[in-house]
Amino acid sequence: MQAVCVDVPGGPENLLLRAVPRPPPKDGEVLIKVNAAALNRADLLQRRGLYPPPPGESDIIGLEVAGTVDSLGPGLKRNWKLADRVMALLSGGGYAEYVSVPEELLMPIPSNLTFSQAAAVPEAWLTAFQLLVKEGEVVLVHAAASGVGTAAIQLVRLLGAVPIVTAGNQEKLQMAEKLGASAGFNYKEEDFVQGVHDFTGGKGANVILDCIGGCNWEKNVNVLAVDGRWVLYGTMGGRSVNGDLLGKLLSKRGHLLGSLLRSRSLQYKSDLVAAFSQKVLPYFSGQPALLRPVIDSTYKLQDIQDAHRHMEANRNMGKIVINPQSA
Ligand SMILES: NC(=O)c1ccc[n+]([C@@H]2O[C@H](COP(=O)([O-])OP(=O)(O)OC[C@H]3O[C@@H](n4cnc5c(N)ncnc54)[C@H](OP(=O)(O)O)[C@@H]3O)[C@@H](O)[C@H]2O)c1
Repeated sequence: MQAVCVDVPGGPENLLLRAVPRPPPKDGEVLIKVNAAALNRADLLQRRGLYPPPPGESDIIGLEVAGTVDSLGPGLKRNWKLADRVMALLSGGGYAEYVSVPEELLMPIPSNLTFSQAAAVPEAWLTAFQLLVKEGEVVLVHAAASGVGTAAIQLVRLLGAVPIVTAGNQEKLQMAEKLGASAGFNYKEEDFVQGVHDFTGGKGANVILDCIGGCNWEKNVNVLAVDGRWVLYGTMGGRSVNGDLLGKLLSKRGHLLGSLLRSRSLQYKSDLVAAFSQKVLPYFSGQPALLRPVIDSTYKLQDIQDAHRHMEANRNMGKIVINPQSA
């Protein structure tokens, strides 16, 4: 099969399409013929050698796919059939024509979603789904137009809470408002601390969903409500903090939580996929559907270098998808 390989860590030019053996499905696994795979920010780090796959997992990049069931491994407990349309959360291996996945990490694709739309669901939406919010809470979502951001805004709204967002340009903020954001702040042009303060009447955000980290720490702790929860799930704005973080956090009685999906156990991921399938997946197919995956663009597998450059330039609004079967 064709797959994207990285022999030497580095820039997008180091992503090379090559023939590699098809991975046979092991005990409890299903082999998926991949019609679409979506990019994630972590893929850029993995390409640079900064985010290795967990031990024993494929070293091919790619955390989520959609396609059809191609063959069944031994010892399966569920009733998957050949040609079933499925989407799956992966620990790696998505940038390829085929991938083997533990059956617990498969979900049926809602009938109204295309393969490209479905590939945009597992990693981004399950990451956002880990954030449990309560009705009425104000949730500040950074990087509103990111894959995870576009999912988080819709989930927060679905749960009856109030999403407010930051992003780096007006177009991204407008899209976020269409997805359900109640307010948006262009962090390059205005002080989001003042914006959140005004929106909440000085109370602050009950929850901050933060993939920026370092450069925003002081602003985040300033906008956090008393007893609020600051969920750190990425560090695109740096990993170091220099200043009175602990004092300020304590004075707010704030909770700082770290959240990582990829390194979780198979049991944790299976439970998450099961809960998501039951509680969220039906909302992708109602009339009208309350949730929708947001696709920025699609690329052929052989154009993977351009797809990575597009993400690295922060140009995408929603998910970037590649189509391996067009290789
Ligand atoms: N913890 C987990 O399990 C988990 C799982 C999936 C993803 N993630 C994390 O979630 C984040 C989003 O991933 P994604 O794949 O959805 O991203 P994405 O679609 O590539 O979007 C990222 C956006 O973040 C904004 N951004 C980048 N650097 C920034 C900075 N220094 N300060 C402020 N904004 C910045 C840019 O938009 P603007 O134009 O608005 O700046 C950029 O387009 C990443 O940090 C990723 O590592 C974590």
